[in-house]
Amino acid sequence: MDRPPVTVLIIDGDAASRNYLSAMLLKEGYQVLTASLGREGLISAWKDQPGIIIIDPVLPDIPGLEVVARLRQDRRTAKVPCVALSSQEDAQEMSALLAAGCNEYMLKSGDALARLFQFLPRLSNKESTLAKRGKMIAFLSAKGGTGTSSLCANIAMCVASTKADKRVAVLDLVLPIGSIANIVGYDDRTNLIFTALQKPEATNATYFKENLPRISGWYFYLLAGPPDPASSTQLASDRVAGIMDALLDSHDYLFVDLGRSLSRISLPIIQQANALALILGTDLATCTLTQTILEYLKTLGIDTRRIFAIQNRSVGLEGLTKPEAEKLIGLPIQVTIPYLGDNLTVANNRHEPFIYRFPNDATSMALRQVASQVLELSEKQFR
Ligand SMILES: Nc1ncnc2c1ncn2[C@@H]1O[C@H](COP(=O)(O)OP(=O)(O)OP(=O)(O)O)[C@@H](O)[C@H]1O
Ligand SMILES: [Mg+2]
Repeated sequence: MDRPPVTVLIIDGDAASRNYLSAMLLKEGYQVLTASLGREGLISAWKDQPGIIIIDPVLPDIPGLEVVARLRQDRRTAKVPCVALSSQEDAQEMSALLAAGCNEYMLKSGDALARLFQFLPRLSNKESTLAKRGKMIAFLSAKGGTGTSSLCANIAMCVASTKADKRVAVLDLVLPIGSIANIVGYDDRTNLIFTALQKPEATNATYFKENLPRISGWYFYLLAGPPDPASSTQLASDRVAGIMDALLDSHDYLFVDLGRSLSRISLPIIQQANALALILGTDLATCTLTQTILEYLKTLGIDTRRIFAIQNRSVGLEGLTKPEAEKLIGLPIQVTIPYLGDNLTVANNRHEPFIYRFPNDATSMALRQVASQVLELSEKQFR
């Protein structure tokens, strides 16, 4: 379908990257405007009304952050999509820019350009496609063995089985070895590593629509994690963002198992997630660690209203009570999953969802309820 060309304004002090990017954009059929200074960029944005603005956060005259803030404050550019294209990864810079109103933060290196080109049509056609992006619900914990993967799989299953008209996917991002495949009994070869080894342009939304396996009995589509530590060393971390984008474009809900990692891979995901399921244990050590992690996430600008804290009694110890744990982490705990004896492990070993193996257990009801609450949180707009 022929549409009038979209004009992209590039604000970048570096001539080489400005020229390279504008040549690429012209080749893709965009019209291009360039500015080497922040002030010049602002004037062009207000006067020429580009459809998209790409900005390097580091500019010779004023900080890119200030440019973005001023674009957002002005009626003429308040809604123009902005992409920050940075030459170095900086989590604080990223959260500041996203908070100031940038739609995306990308790196100049790696497969960033392929990802940018995947992303631009969506930005220039905002109402019809951007709104359709799926919601992301990330599961994480401060310590291993807290039940993160079991809960992620089982809660995603509750969503997928009740929302028959929605596409639900689970992405296992736990390195160096994933476990969701094991829990659901998937042993075929489509996994994160296999996918990331393919060309970025090949793993677009259509690819995921057509190639992700749907797990029988669990109702969701799965992108399994690394099957072994050796293969996980093959993962180029700069491929993950593009894969996430394509998964969000091809699914209504994306559940991500991040395990207990806070890394270059997981932090941007935590920042983008619509809801964060934070799994706590009952022991003092885990809760103290969780509190430290929460403090860190707050410094990155994560809105704690997006956090859904689940206390999971994964071991049969008394441990901290809910109020004690809440006091320690400084956040309300939305739900407590009791110690289930061997039952969850039995269900996992048989690759069966807990609610099917133990339909009459009160926890089955709790899991369904958590699923609908987490979904609701992921749909909520916070301002
Ligand atoms: N509430 C519970 N009651 C009893 N057992 C549980 C409970 N929650 C989890 N488990 C068991 O604890 C073990 C660890 O669970 P799981 O693999 O989901 O945790 P994890 O946080 O993902 O661990 P890892 O750090 O290995 O990724 C499993 O055997 C699981 O069946
Ligand atoms: Mg796990």
